[in-house]
Amino acid sequence: MALGPLTRRIAYLEEGDIAILSRESAEILNEKGETVERRIQIAELSGAIVGKGNYKHFMEKEIHEQPATVGETLNGLVDAGTRGVVLPALPFDLATVDRVTLVACGTSYYAAMVAKYWIESLAQVPVELDIASEFRYRNGPVLPGSLAMFVSQSGETVDTLAALRYAKAKGAHTAAVVNVPTSAMAREADVMLRTLAGPEIGVATTKAFTAQLSVLACFATALGRARGLISADREAQITQALMEIPARLAEGLVKLPSLLTPIVEEVAEARDVLYLGRGLSYPLAMEGALKLKEISYIHAEGYAAGEMKHGPIALIDETVPVIALAPEDSWFEKTVSNLQEVAARRGRVIVFTTKRGAEHLRPIAAHVVEMPDIDPLVSPLLYALPVQMLAYYVAVRKGTDVDQPRNLAKSVTVE
Ligand code: AGP
Repeated sequence: MALGPLTRRIAYLEEGDIAILSRESAEILNEKGETVERRIQIAELSGAIVGKGNYKHFMEKEIHEQPATVGETLNGLVDAGTRGVVLPALPFDLATVDRVTLVACGTSYYAAMVAKYWIESLAQVPVELDIASEFRYRNGPVLPGSLAMFVSQSGETVDTLAALRYAKAKGAHTAAVVNVPTSAMAREADVMLRTLAGPEIGVATTKAFTAQLSVLACFATALGRARGLISADREAQITQALMEIPARLAEGLVKLPSLLTPIVEEVAEARDVLYLGRGLSYPLAMEGALKLKEISYIHAEGYAAGEMKHGPIALIDETVPVIALAPEDSWFEKTVSNLQEVAARRGRVIVFTTKRGAEHLRPIAAHVVEMPDIDPLVSPLLYALPVQMLAYYVAVRKGTDVDQPRNLAKSVTVE
């Protein structure tokens, strides 16, 4: 990382080597004191090597890379001509997949949660979803010949890797949705579905998440098509909706900073924050809460909006910001009534919705942020942006170490 801005020509010393450096030369001696040559390699242009550019943090840079990384990932999966999904060669017949197990941790688990909605609605295939640290010890049934998918940015998360090995030993086909093609999961899975987000340095994952959603949306569409439940026209409609996301993300990167300013002020002072969503927005509520707590250290919880009356509504008062993700989808009306309940208890409703949605919600909300109209099916890819940016700006305001939050590692490779 340190050398990135200076050079891409790197010679790695071996055990016991000593390098004598001058302005003009570098002499390398081995442990016997003999002058030796060490091969000069050209380092890959990685996020770490190219540095933060004009950004204050890697996380900020990676948030801003998302129009490109989502576009890049989709371009690798969608045929520009037919607008059909083209998956890598699979070692199994997609049409025979009648059950999917999805396993991951943290943010990758929330991507898998979204995928459950997509796979079950588009392909009518039941999805068993679990966090890896539970799945690997449950000694649960994994049907031979079924498909088990593992989602991981690093491809090295110990619980997810162990879960992959468990499923493989049970005879399942294994697919890894990973961002690091040289990772353990990439090597051990039967097939890798690669996210093309590029190296992600910030501990709080952002661009890898939207790249995971891009891959999983394409997979669910291809599965629905293979099972004869999606026509070629519907497939083209879905991929078209996905291909519009990079432009909408680019717009959001310009418009959201000023729209978020008053919300950042309010959230930064809060002790507890609630994130609410229904349907496809429920996993995004979970992700928004995770982003906020892991980099700003403010306690936040994500909840299915319909669950509020089963207890959490007792938390609501004028000191609790309630952040709702409310695209105009089939769950919208229900979300509105949940937010009316929150407002009736003096909760501070902060909502991300469309222009029309804002007309319904402005009377009860403390803040309304209007998002562009998009196909609700792909809303998670767009609504990830405001929750990422909100968490980022709140953390910056609180002065925490955004790229290296306390107690966290980029990849949890030990239990
Ligand atoms: C997300 O911002 C966190 N850094 C964390 O939850 C992360 O998603 C989780 O540890 C899984 O990592 P992976 O995707 O590399 O497996």
